[in-house]
Amino acid sequence: MNTNDKVQDSMFANPVSTRKIHIFDTTLRDGEQAPGASLNPEEKIIIARQLAKLGVDTIEPGFPISSPGEFTAVQTISRELQNVEICGFARAVKQDIDSALKATEDASRRRLHMFLSSSDIHLDFQLRKSRQQVVQLAREMIAYAKQFIERIEFSPMDATRTGMEFLYEVVEAVIEEGATIINIPDTVGYALPEEYGQLFRNVQQHVRGGKSVEYSAHCHNDLGLAVANSLAAVQAGATHVEVSVNGIGERAGNTSLEELVMAIETKGPALNVGTNIQLEQLYATSQLVSHIMHIPLAVNKPVVGRNAFQHEAGIHQDGLLKNRSTYEIMDPEQLGIPRHMIVLGKHSGRHAIKHRAMELGVALTEDQLEDVYTKFKQKADGQKTVTDAELIEMVGKTVDRAIDRYEITDFQVITGFKRSRVASVTVADRHSGTERTYSAIGEGPVEAVINGIKQAMPVEIKFENLELHSMGNEEKAFGEATVTIAAGASRYRGTGINQDVIQAVVEAFMAAANQAVRMLEKAQADKQKQHHAG
Ligand code: KIV
Ligand code: ZN
Repeated sequence: MNTNDKVQDSMFANPVSTRKIHIFDTTLRDGEQAPGASLNPEEKIIIARQLAKLGVDTIEPGFPISSPGEFTAVQTISRELQNVEICGFARAVKQDIDSALKATEDASRRRLHMFLSSSDIHLDFQLRKSRQQVVQLAREMIAYAKQFIERIEFSPMDATRTGMEFLYEVVEAVIEEGATIINIPDTVGYALPEEYGQLFRNVQQHVRGGKSVEYSAHCHNDLGLAVANSLAAVQAGATHVEVSVNGIGERAGNTSLEELVMAIETKGPALNVGTNIQLEQLYATSQLVSHIMHIPLAVNKPVVGRNAFQHEAGIHQDGLLKNRSTYEIMDPEQLGIPRHMIVLGKHSGRHAIKHRAMELGVALTEDQLEDVYTKFKQKADGQKTVTDAELIEMVGKTVDRAIDRYEITDFQVITGFKRSRVASVTVADRHSGTERTYSAIGEGPVEAVINGIKQAMPVEIKFENLELHSMGNEEKAFGEATVTIAAGASRYRGTGINQDVIQAVVEAFMAAANQAVRMLEKAQADKQKQHHAG
């Protein structure tokens, strides 16, 4: 092991943690309250299965009383996922409690989550109840639920804007009636980390029975403080944190699951806590939720955003290629994120160009690199990024040969409204000097063209992911496509930029496919060489 590996290993090693933080996932309840995120029961079940695979400790799958579909979703998830705790959500209303208990009755482990507002603003304008009435109602409903279930979480809604004395009074009352978990929601994302942590300390200290229950943090991100506030709660003794995948939720959302988990992983020794989350499932979960909810991720979203592990500055690229820990504090591959750390642009240097050319299957000599570098700088000056296809063209000119085996010489796609999309694609094979036209159909124009191209490929290719971004905002805007494919046991990524978005996808797909073909042909040639040598 060299010194670099040692630095890396100690940075990314799992910390020895003393306290397990219980990850309570509310993507399917609070998360689904995000505008436009609504899910049908089948979609909820697909996401719940992935959450179980991710290793969350509790799933809150919905609000059973709110609709028959919600009830069915919670019931189906309770029946199917027997390795995770299921939480039934309810207002302080008997019918809600009955519905939540019925929907979760087949779960192997379950809890009831009951909420009731406690701030004066909510009491005066929304509930129109006095403080005494609220305490009384909370008592009655917890006592009612306690006849049927042991594990009860109580949330005094808008807790962070509730006067301290009244918060103590409500919490004390529900503990007396049998609540076992006290959640302190920062419903409107109003708290600062220090204030929020102090609130947990105060409640534990000043409430009778306050030390006999567990505590949960539930934060909203209106001021961008949800993760920081949740961590402050953890440091103040909370053992449960309520999160959603991609931080999805009402308004600016909830505490982001992936950000919180990675903060705990990365700063584990300082916080002295850990989670049961399977890190390698983080990216797949984030992608699944984003696709099913049709909510794209900001490119700079921590941990799972497109740029979270990409580097453009030459100095950063150089440092990274020497040792990843120079500019990265987490290992993206550990989180299941396909590696594409170098984005080639005007700030890139020789080291990065050489590295990407190598990834694309071409080893450049020093003289060749100098030549490509000059061409690259001219090109990069006028555009935001240099695509793989453009780099390959420059490399090809320098080494005086066509590097990509396959080239699309023409394609046409008929798109429309009702019928399948139809494509015809002409592909040239530079090795054999032949050209053939293929036709194919698909549910969309991209699928139709890709189905056509796949027929020309000598290897089986699985189209795994497409990210499409608009560069510019007028009608003439360019589309930037990044395509991830799987071939053999490896994944490849390619990029393309074109005013025609379908052509951008085709370019990106071809960059990745040609890379896969080069790698597989090289592997075959190496095998043959070994065979002859043997
Ligand atoms: O934000 C909030 O207050 C909630 C509670 C109902 C827990 O989602
Ligand atoms: Zn909430």
